Amino acid sequence: MNVRHFLTLLDFSSNELHRLIKRAIKLKERQKQGRLYEPLKNKVLAMVFEKSSTRTRVSFESGMAQLGGHAMFLSPRDTQFGRGEPLEDSARVLSRMVDAIMIRTFEHEKIERFADYSACPVINALTDRYHPCQLLADMQTWFEHRGDIRGATVAFIGDGNNMCHSYINAARQFEFRLHIAAPGGYQPNADIVVAAGNRIRLFEHPLEAAAGADLVVTDVWASMGQEEEQQEREKVFAAFQVNDELMQQTNADALFMHCLPAHRGEEVTADVIDGARSVVWDEAENRLHAQKALLEFLLAPEAAAAD
Ligand code: CP
Ligand code: NVA
Repeated sequence: MNVRHFLTLLDFSSNELHRLIKRAIKLKERQKQGRLYEPLKNKVLAMVFEKSSTRTRVSFESGMAQLGGHAMFLSPRDTQFGRGEPLEDSARVLSRMVDAIMIRTFEHEKIERFADYSACPVINALTDRYHPCQLLADMQTWFEHRGDIRGATVAFIGDGNNMCHSYINAARQFEFRLHIAAPGGYQPNADIVVAAGNRIRLFEHPLEAAAGADLVVTDVWASMGQEEEQQEREKVFAAFQVNDELMQQTNADALFMHCLPAHRGEEVTADVIDGARSVVWDEAENRLHAQKALLEFLLAPEAAAAD
């Protein structure tokens, strides 16, 4: 089926991603000026959430409304998603009724299978393996604060999880160097690392990974679905906290990002996340603007080109 999906950052070309970030910045400006822009009138986005969400749900729902369309929240508790209807069937049915489908789920293979059977674009709103929408917001935030990220050094400290994997793909597409410090046994997927070649360096010690960094990023130690591992992970990750000592290793004007929700006192100290280098509130807000650019790209590319 000749439909564009956004399941990982590799689904778009580097050029498309750069254009999308520029467009997000423009749509943000327009929104702040209070100028109406409704290219998605009568378009409907279905939002399937098999895991909790605050930012993703609110940003997609607000974004669709601001673009003149409508968003529909679907939870497995009260749809047939939770009762075992085959994904292939749900994809074919839903995609005949709506214009795009956003999914937050567990196994990445599930969203791939769903997309294979969908007649409309499918957007990955987080799987166990990737969180590409968050990276659009993170890249927009960097571009707003510092300009192009090409050639910069980013340090990802913590779990080699969905956020880490998406940072690896971003390093490829936006051409920055990525230092990763994760404890043994919690390193990112080896195939994803290898595919990124020499853009990625793995470090045992977080302070070494942070040396010379322009941006420091972390994420929770236990992701959604890993709640039972929380105590064990607190021990394993104790040395992988982003704190003042770690931030002192970076370049003087380094920024700090976190996709949120954050656990102060675990992966990051309050001093850092609430401090002068942190841009987490811009980063969270940019979920709205970046995803509006994504929705426009997938559903009304002619409107963007004419604007
Ligand atoms: N960062 C992020 O995706 O937040 P939510 O889980 O609140 O959507
Ligand atoms: N790694 C986290 C990100 C939350 C936005 C999780 O998957 O729970």
